[in-house]
Amino acid sequence: MKKIKVLAIVGSLREGSYNKQLALAAKEIIGDRADFEIVDYSDVPLFNEDIEFPAPEPVQRLRNKVLEADGIWFFTPEYNHFFPGVLKNLIDWLSRTSKGVPQVFARKCAAISGITPGMSGTGIAQDHLVTLLSFLNMRIMNFPRLTIPNALQQVKDGKLELTDSKPYLEKQVEAFLKFVQKELDCQ
Ligand code: FNR
Repeated sequence: MKKIKVLAIVGSLREGSYNKQLALAAKEIIGDRADFEIVDYSDVPLFNEDIEFPAPEPVQRLRNKVLEADGIWFFTPEYNHFFPGVLKNLIDWLSRTSKGVPQVFARKCAAISGITPGMSGTGIAQDHLVTLLSFLNMRIMNFPRLTIPNALQQVKDGKLELTDSKPYLEKQVEAFLKFVQKELDCQ
């Protein structure tokens, strides 16, 4: 059986990002059951149709990574009840289809998680992200999604030490691997 490839896209470029640390925790739980890569897209420029063709190298690199992946797992903070602009910018770049370039997100499986020091748990941002990913024809695993509020209760010296939320992340890992495998079996 082919090993599943999961690409993690973190909606924060912050070095100590809790969402990036959550992605790392998911990677650890997955272990060798799937390839799991957290992509660096900090070099992707702001979208501008004037520089769309030929696609800048970072965009082409990211496009290829999404194309090769079986599942895309979004780990996103919430900014003003939305997901951050850097994530929207990346998705806008990769969503472009004209001139023979495929829309790389189409039919890819998607999982969504988020962690915040606030009370919302990133749920509102996730709902907005679902609207966008649905428009891009992704196969979204709507249940379970993971929303972690009050992050600082599970952070020590800037390091995320998942306690209460770990079983929920474990459940989401199991569910997403099954979800992706089921989609692959149907192809
Ligand atoms: C925030 N933050 C925030 N938190 C939240 O729960 N709901 C929100 O609407 C917002 N809004 C918001 C706007 C802006 C511009 C910033 C910079 C921050 C706080 C945010 O959740 C916190 O900074 C997280 O730590 C960001 O995630 P990372 O970088 O730790 O992954």
